[in-house]
Amino acid sequence: MSTQTDAAGVHSAAIPGSAAGDGLAGWSPFAQRPGDPFDTLYAQLLPEIGRIIAQYEEKRSGLIPLAHLFQEHEGYVSPNAVAAIAYHVGETLAAVESTISFYTLLFRKPVGKYVIQICRNLSCMLNGADEIMAYARQGLGIAHLETTADGLISYEEVECLAACDRAPCAQVNLEFVYDLTRESVDAMLAAIRAGTYEIKPLVQTAKPGRTWKVEPDTGRKSAGALNQSNPNNAGGIGDTSGVQMFDLIVGKVQYESRSNERLVRETQLRPEISGNGHH
Ligand code: FES
Repeated sequence: MSTQTDAAGVHSAAIPGSAAGDGLAGWSPFAQRPGDPFDTLYAQLLPEIGRIIAQYEEKRSGLIPLAHLFQEHEGYVSPNAVAAIAYHVGETLAAVESTISFYTLLFRKPVGKYVIQICRNLSCMLNGADEIMAYARQGLGIAHLETTADGLISYEEVECLAACDRAPCAQVNLEFVYDLTRESVDAMLAAIRAGTYEIKPLVQTAKPGRTWKVEPDTGRKSAGALNQSNPNNAGGIGDTSGVQMFDLIVGKVQYESRSNERLVRETQLRPEISGNGHH
C-alpha cells in the first residue's frame, strides 16, 4: 500500500474500512500511480461510473452494477476495483467485499477466458448431469472450481440455472447451453480450444491460479458469521453444509420450544447422574 500524501497532506490510505496488510486497498483516490494498468482503466471508466451512480437515489445501489462494470473490463473484481467501488458508493471495503462475495456470478479472483458452469440441481441430475459433469471434468482434466493450467477454461458445478426443461444444461460465460450430451461437450471443448467457439471469451487481465476458490472460514469473523455454509459448496453432491444448517435451525426451534421441559427434566436427572458417577 502506498504511503504517499497528496498536495493537501491527506494520507493515501483513506478508504473507509481499509487497514494496512488487508490486501484490499491497492487503489486510492488520493494517490496517483502513473502507468498502473488499473489506474488507466479507472480513468477510462470514470464517465461510465458517474452515469451508473447517477441512476440511483442512493449511491450504494450502484455497488453491484459497478462490480459488473469492472468485471467486464478486468475479467474479475480485483482488490483495486473493490477499493474504487467502496469510494464511489461511500461504503467500507468490508461492505463491498461481503456483497461481492455473496454472488457467485462475480469473481473475486482471476478465472479462465471461458467459465463453464454445469447445473447440478434436480432436473439436470435426473437427466444425467452427474455423468455429464464427470465427462466434462475428465475432458478438461480439472475439478470443480478449477482452471486449466493454460488459463483458458474454468469449471464449476452450480445450482439450478432456471432452464430445467432443457436439462442437463450449462452456462458458458453466462450464455445458456442446453441439452448437454457427451458429444456436445466434446464439440464445445474442441471449439473453445480451437478459438472457434460461438460464445466470445471473457477479458483476462491477470493469469488465473489453479482455483478461484474462496478461502474457508478463517475463524476471524464475528461470532454470528461462524459455522455458516461453505461458500464453495452451495449445496449439491457431497455438500452437507445445507443439511447441517437445516439441522441447526430445526434443533434451535425444538430446543427453544422444549427448553422449559428439558430444564425441569435435566434438573431432576442431575442428582442421579452425579450419584452414579461416584459409585
Ligand atoms: S435443475 Fe438444472 S436448470 Fe434447473
